[in-house]
Amino acid sequence: MSTIILGIESSCDDTSAAVIKDGVLLSNVVASQAVHEAYGGVVPELASRAHQQNVVPVVHEALKRAGVTKEQLNAVAFTRGPGLMGSLLVGVSFAKGLACSLGIPMIDVNHLHGHVLAHFIKAPNEEFDPPEFPFLCLLVSGGNSQIILVKAYNDMQVIGQTIDDAAGEAIDKCSKVMGLGYPGGPIIDKLARQGNPSAYTFSKPHIPDYNYSFSGLKTSFLYSLREWLHEDPDFIEHHKEDLAASLEATVVDILMTKLRKAAKDLNVKEVAVAGGVSANNGLRNAFREYAKKYGWKVYIPKFSYTTDNAAMIAITGYFKYLDKQFCTIDQPAYSRVII
Ligand code: KG4
Repeated sequence: MSTIILGIESSCDDTSAAVIKDGVLLSNVVASQAVHEAYGGVVPELASRAHQQNVVPVVHEALKRAGVTKEQLNAVAFTRGPGLMGSLLVGVSFAKGLACSLGIPMIDVNHLHGHVLAHFIKAPNEEFDPPEFPFLCLLVSGGNSQIILVKAYNDMQVIGQTIDDAAGEAIDKCSKVMGLGYPGGPIIDKLARQGNPSAYTFSKPHIPDYNYSFSGLKTSFLYSLREWLHEDPDFIEHHKEDLAASLEATVVDILMTKLRKAAKDLNVKEVAVAGGVSANNGLRNAFREYAKKYGWKVYIPKFSYTTDNAAMIAITGYFKYLDKQFCTIDQPAYSRVII
């Protein structure tokens, strides 16, 4: 008998639903929210409202594209956290209600585990070459920067993480001070491809272990920019490509230096990257360079699995289903979590 899982993701500003049958992805529908662009960042209240509007049509569309009826589902998996509480509550409540009405198990998924296990999404006509355990995963998104030692689907240990801002958050904020728009990551990435990564130097943190810090870089970027703008009010316009390339190179160097230290200390050669910032071309190139230089086997996700999506929630839910790890109706959403 087949196992069919519906996954629902609503942790931030993407409403997404996906269907996985026996570990194979049948559909993955994402409704993004353009409403935040005007504000230069996600507005929680508006995000919750948009999820309310999107969740029913998105789930409907995911089932339709998968050619599956809700009665055929074996379980409903949903992002329980971390994320914005109002956003999470929409997906969590919807998923619980649906599972209850169908009399099937509900499975809570840690959003961060979902990003890591995105490497195990198997889709028709797509190459499938997942990492072997144990592997290291650099998880970089708008809200997190972590190095995770992944020992099994259900056994992950965070060995390093940011003590302040996340990498994506720092890039987004620097982009905002340059007046480039939101989200800054893809804009910086595009500009950086035409700029000189060595044009400017920004401060790098000196913190112990495998932890990260990005608030100093943000401040250094801001202060340097203020000085340059004082001398030339059109400085950003004249140098935005070099600024973007230098910023990106600094972030990539900070991320890769610690990752390399962890891989060396733990003698791990299987190394993956996940999360929204893993869409960044500079970071992807650095992974390929490190693979050559240090004999790593690297795993870089498909672009559509880098940002928030329900396919990663459905695959994580599938593995939990096989382990019979279900949740009860009284388990609440959580905005913060430590894995
Ligand atoms: O994982 P994600 O979609 O959301 C969460 O934070 O959970 O990550 C969003 C982050 C944003 O900071 C965005 O600017 C960044 O990923 N991002 C990028 C790129 N695409 C998205 N950062 C750098 N280069 C990109 N191409």
